[in-house]
Parts: sequence; C-alpha cells; structure tokens
Amino acid sequence: MRRILRKIRRRFAKPTPPPPPPPFRHEYKRTWEALAETEDTAKMAVSGYLDEEMYRSHGLKTKGLLEDTVGLKADDEILEIGAGVGRVGAVLAPVCKRWVGADVSSRMVEHMRRRLAAFPNVEAVEISGHDLAPIPDASLDLVYCTVVFMHLEEWERYRYVREAFRVLRPGGRLLVDNVNALDDAGWAFFEHLLSFPPESRPPFVSKTSTPQELVNYLARAGFEAIGQRGFELFIVVHGVKP
Ligand SMILES: C[S@@+](CC[C@H](N)C(=O)[O-])C[C@H]1O[C@@H](n2cnc3c(N)ncnc32)[C@H](O)[C@@H]1O
Repeated sequence: MRRILRKIRRRFAKPTPPPPPPPFRHEYKRTWEALAETEDTAKMAVSGYLDEEMYRSHGLKTKGLLEDTVGLKADDEILEIGAGVGRVGAVLAPVCKRWVGADVSSRMVEHMRRRLAAFPNVEAVEISGHDLAPIPDASLDLVYCTVVFMHLEEWERYRYVREAFRVLRPGGRLLVDNVNALDDAGWAFFEHLLSFPPESRPPFVSKTSTPQELVNYLARAGFEAIGQRGFELFIVVHGVKP
C-alpha cells in the first residue's frame, strides 16, 4: 500500500519549475533590473566602485569633457540616456536649467531619483531600452550618452542617435561615446574580454566601437558639424542638429 502511495505521489508531484534562462543581450531591462537591486549593487554595476568621492571626481571629468566638446550653458535643458545612479547629473544639475536622467531600469531610476532629490530641476525617467518615447519632440538643447553604448547592440546605439535627433531643438547638441577598438588601450580592453568563452559571456559584456561607426550613425541621423576626439580608451563623437 505504502509503495502504491509513494508511486502516486511521485507521479502527481508538482514539478519544480526550471530557473529562468539567462537574459539575451537585447533584454536590457531584465539584465539591468537584476544588477540594480540595491543602491550598492547598482553603483558597482555602473562604475565598479562605491566611493562617493570617486563618483564626484569622475562626474566632474565627464562635465569637463562636455564643456570642451558640445559646451554647457546655464539655460540648457539636458538629457542623459542611460544615466545610472546620476553620477553625471549630480554635477550638471547645479549648472543647467533642467537635467533629465533616463534609464532602462526602474530600480536604477529610483536610486537616481533618491540620490538627486536635493535638485529641484532633476527628472528621472524610465525608458524602454530602445527609444525615448516619454520625451517630446524638439524639447531639449543637449543629449549625451556616456559609458552605455558598450552594453548595447549596434541597432540600439543607432536608435538612440535617431531618437536624440528627434528630441533635440534645432541647434541642439549630441555627444555619445564608446571604447575605441582602433585605440591601443581600447584594443587591449577588447582582447581582455576575448578571454570569456562565448557560452559564459554575460549579456552586458562591453563591446567596442570604431570612430567610423559612431560618426556614421550621427551623419545618417542628420547631424551636422560632427566632431570626434579620443578620451582615454574612449572615442567621443558629437554633432549638432541643423
Ligand atoms: C555603465 S552604466 C553608466 C551609467 C552612467 N551613464 C554613468 O556614466 O555613470 C550603464 C547604464 O546604462 C543603462 N542601460 C543599459 N542598457 C540600456 C538601454 N538599452 N537603454 C537605456 N539605458 C540602458 C543601465 O541601466 C546603466 O544605468
């Protein structure tokens, strides 16, 4: 009798569901929600460190890069695509009219909102991962996207450049960057990541660009006055909407 009962139990036992498969590279929301579970895990995913002094000094470095390339004006309304925990927003909000931080992860957006709550001119917005749907046409003066393209498929890189064109006012400026595969340090970075066997590459693994790729995106989207410069192992490309 016991044997029969055991057999019945085995036959009708609820199967344990298999764990969800790891996300594909294009599943940006799933990937980055998991990485941003707490403020500390989000900070580690964004930068690899927790030290607030380093956040500030690296934020100031990016601000300097923006000043030297696309310029910063007190009446600028600015959007950062993939703004993380607001590393750059913390140093730009005090010097511009409005700073909008957009990110694919709702948790990242919450961390950013909390961290920048002292600034009345900051907005934190969740986006889909492939467009800027919540942002109206021709409503901004400057759009930038830093340390994000490396995590995106090429199509999403271009989609964001096209979307930046849509949301900028005439005369508005765009800046994007990525690790430069044609630079020696960028190539060392590429070779370092080559050590991942294909089957264990994480979905967010960094992929490089060439300057030509980024210049092509800006030109195809309609930007003019396209410029480029190296910045450590990065290539930085910028342009103006006519
Ligand atoms: C390395 S962090 C850089 C954050 C910030 N730009 C900075 O420099 O501190 C990459 C950020 O991009 C966001 N992200 C990843 N994929 C995205 C996508 N498809 N669309 C928008 N944001 C994305 C992540 O959630 C993360 O906050």
